[in-house]
Amino acid sequence: MEQFLAERGQGLMRTAVLLTGSVDAGEDLLQTALERLLRKWHWLDGDPEGYLRRTLYNPATDGLRRQGRWRRKLRPAGARRRTGYSRTLSGSVTVSLMRGGQVEDHLSAAALPPVLRGAGPADPRASTLGRAGATSPIPDSEVSCFERDVMVIGGCGHIGLPLAIAFADLGARVGIYDASDVAVGKVNAAQMPFDEPGAADVLKRVVAAGRLKASAGPGIVATAEHLIVVIGTPVDEHLNPDQAAIPNSLSGCADHLRDGQILILRSTVYPGVTALVEKMITRLGVRMDVAFCPERIAEGKAMSELSELPQIVSSRTPRGADRASALFSMLTPVLVHMTPEEAELAKLFTNAWRYIKFATANQLYMMANDRGLDFERIRQGLMLDYPRAADMPSAGFAAGPCLFKDTMQLAAFNNNNFALGHTAMTINEGLPLYLVYRLEQRFDLRSMTVGILGMAFKGGSDDIRSSLSYKLKRILAFKADAVLCSDPYVTADSSLRPLDEILALADLLVIGAPHPEYRDLGTGKPVADIWNVLGRGVRV
Ligand SMILES: NC(=O)c1ccc[n+]([C@@H]2O[C@H](COP(=O)([O-])OP(=O)(O)OC[C@H]3O[C@@H](n4cnc5c(N)ncnc54)[C@H](O)[C@@H]3O)[C@@H](O)[C@H]2O)c1
Repeated sequence: MEQFLAERGQGLMRTAVLLTGSVDAGEDLLQTALERLLRKWHWLDGDPEGYLRRTLYNPATDGLRRQGRWRRKLRPAGARRRTGYSRTLSGSVTVSLMRGGQVEDHLSAAALPPVLRGAGPADPRASTLGRAGATSPIPDSEVSCFERDVMVIGGCGHIGLPLAIAFADLGARVGIYDASDVAVGKVNAAQMPFDEPGAADVLKRVVAAGRLKASAGPGIVATAEHLIVVIGTPVDEHLNPDQAAIPNSLSGCADHLRDGQILILRSTVYPGVTALVEKMITRLGVRMDVAFCPERIAEGKAMSELSELPQIVSSRTPRGADRASALFSMLTPVLVHMTPEEAELAKLFTNAWRYIKFATANQLYMMANDRGLDFERIRQGLMLDYPRAADMPSAGFAAGPCLFKDTMQLAAFNNNNFALGHTAMTINEGLPLYLVYRLEQRFDLRSMTVGILGMAFKGGSDDIRSSLSYKLKRILAFKADAVLCSDPYVTADSSLRPLDEILALADLLVIGAPHPEYRDLGTGKPVADIWNVLGRGVRV
């Protein structure tokens, strides 16, 4: 049984949490199911997981009340149980079976790499229970008297809105404060301001249930216990990060911060911003905890990744860590604890790492292409059954609102000493220039109408922020007779034309975003397709 739990415990706990909507209720459910399994273990006929899952599903679908679950989950830290499942930097997965208040069977398995074991605080619940109140001046009575559970500041955006509706769908009473009147109006009318698969129906459900309310007025900030800040944190036109973006946005609602709240920064921040905000809160004289819990979901996968990805939790105080842990364990059972400074870098490293990987693939693409070779054929061939190359990306525009700007934030933080990051920028941002240069070698662009298919920054998305298709458009505008653009998802650009029109008018087509709609493109015109969407190779 120990081996079974070590291998399957995490997945089963995730199922139990998803079924019940909270870690506490999930623990209870899994514990009951495990007790039953333990009794039958010796005569079960080979499928313990099947038996366990059936015992999980039956009671879970049996009329559990969402709102009740939420309240129970977020009861004051001191009242929380210490049994059940957890996975932390201490490196263990633990499932405890309780009977009559006694631990009957205690099973654990090493789960994290040795370098992480013991590197951070122990289980946040354990540490808080051991030290609750030692550093925080906030009494429990102050944290449980709010009209709402969660407030998402910047909550009508691409990252804030999925989070807000996910919490509301778990039974939380959620508010949104967002500076955009237009987006607030849409959310209150249960309309998504942008496309996010799986979000529209949930939004309708939670607005209809009265569990989500958005406002463009900062007064709403005073109504919730957990304030989560997810405003945008772009770099400026000179690639300088704005360290003051978060403090400035908070000063806009400073009058509405209340004793007993917890402020959770979730935007990707310039390192040191958490400390800056802590100072700001101290100066304001508000008794509130501060945490930094960066968002790591990708647009287009938000509604599934919110419950699948481990959650990084950091706070200077045990109580802040405990409250943030309790909140995010509503979404995901796996929490990773770091200091705020570690977490700030972890988030930036994540994006810089990804950006550099794309740049590597793009550089190799250009190398092969210059020699008349098809990079995609080479990539597919070298990856086949070869795990050490399994994550090599295809060539393509590495764009969007995060990877580039976060790599530049990291460079600025390191006194502009980030050669790999800067090189990645020149390669990724240079790809549209390279593409046009190659097209010029083959075609008389000056006499041609070029059609760009896909203006979003990535496939299947309607988001045009920092899309390299627009850079391609600008370069082609100098070189070609005319440039026409199309995108089946994008609604924010009125100059876009229908696909049929582009196919009829253009002499040459360039795939700008690998939308699945282009896979069966019926055209005899030449197509430059560095993504291999058409499956005809990527040579240009
Ligand atoms: N987009 C992604 O894929 C992604 C993934 C992970 C993390 N992040 C990070 O999440 C953060 C938000 O990104 P996003 O893509 O959701 O941005 P976004 O622009 O889509 O959303 C930001 C929202 O904040 C609102 N806002 C701006 N200033 C405000 C203020 N002062 N007060 C209240 N509301 C304000 C805007 O109206 C907007 O609705 C950024 O730090 C980003 O780096 C983004």
